[in-house]
Amino acid sequence: MKPIGVFDSGLGGVSFLREAVKKLPNESFIYYGDNKNAPYGDKSEEEIERLALGCTEFLTEKGVKAIVVACNTATGSAINLIRERVELPVLSVEPAIKPPSDMGGQGKILMLATAATTKMARYHELKSRMKEPSRIIDVPCSGIADIIENGVFDPKAYETILDEKLSGYKGMEIDAIVLGCTHYIFISEAISEYAARNFKGSCTIYDGNEGTARRLRHVLEEKNMRELGSERGSVTFYTSGDYEKYKRIFDMLMARQR
Ligand code: DGL
Repeated sequence: MKPIGVFDSGLGGVSFLREAVKKLPNESFIYYGDNKNAPYGDKSEEEIERLALGCTEFLTEKGVKAIVVACNTATGSAINLIRERVELPVLSVEPAIKPPSDMGGQGKILMLATAATTKMARYHELKSRMKEPSRIIDVPCSGIADIIENGVFDPKAYETILDEKLSGYKGMEIDAIVLGCTHYIFISEAISEYAARNFKGSCTIYDGNEGTARRLRHVLEEKNMRELGSERGSVTFYTSGDYEKYKRIFDMLMARQR
């Protein structure tokens, strides 16, 4: 049986991969991190589109049976084009603003993402379909993915940069914080701690990984593409960057719970 291909600009998509392996333990996965070109979040949409198509080509050449774009930024600029170019099922992550919007509430929803995502037409169209779009505050977080790409996960290392991005909302009532970039899931502890110290409200954290992994399982079942054997599948890592450096961080992230 063929593997499932997952890609991201770098290591953020590993947060999705962990979720997918949990839900589909018998499937094999190929992960491709475009670490050489990360971060995507400060690049132009045209450049992101070109890079995302390159990742897609890499995975199709490996013979995958489905592709997951585990990068909100790549989804925003290239998902339509990817779907036009490949005949495989293509799934993707997107900022999970719907669950907290549907919950309703008086407080705001902070949507943390790359600068590129916060500017994209696709994201604004998604937001316009929410119950009360004015509850959602977009927070571009340039610089954060770069630190994560270097394998730094100590919450203390993020205090200054989080304050730089979030200090404007101190004292506000925040119902939810949406992690609209797959990298940020690895520092959700630092984000929760910052929120507890500085915001009012429940500050419940949301991300799109679980929903996308569930959808992947559903699509594979629907198309009779599910691996039915009882053996555990394999996970293979590829990168456009320095293999030794990123494989070490990849292994560490796969072993971590959060
Ligand atoms: N992990 C990516 C996302 O979900 C973006 C990080 C970056 O390359 O800037 O948007």
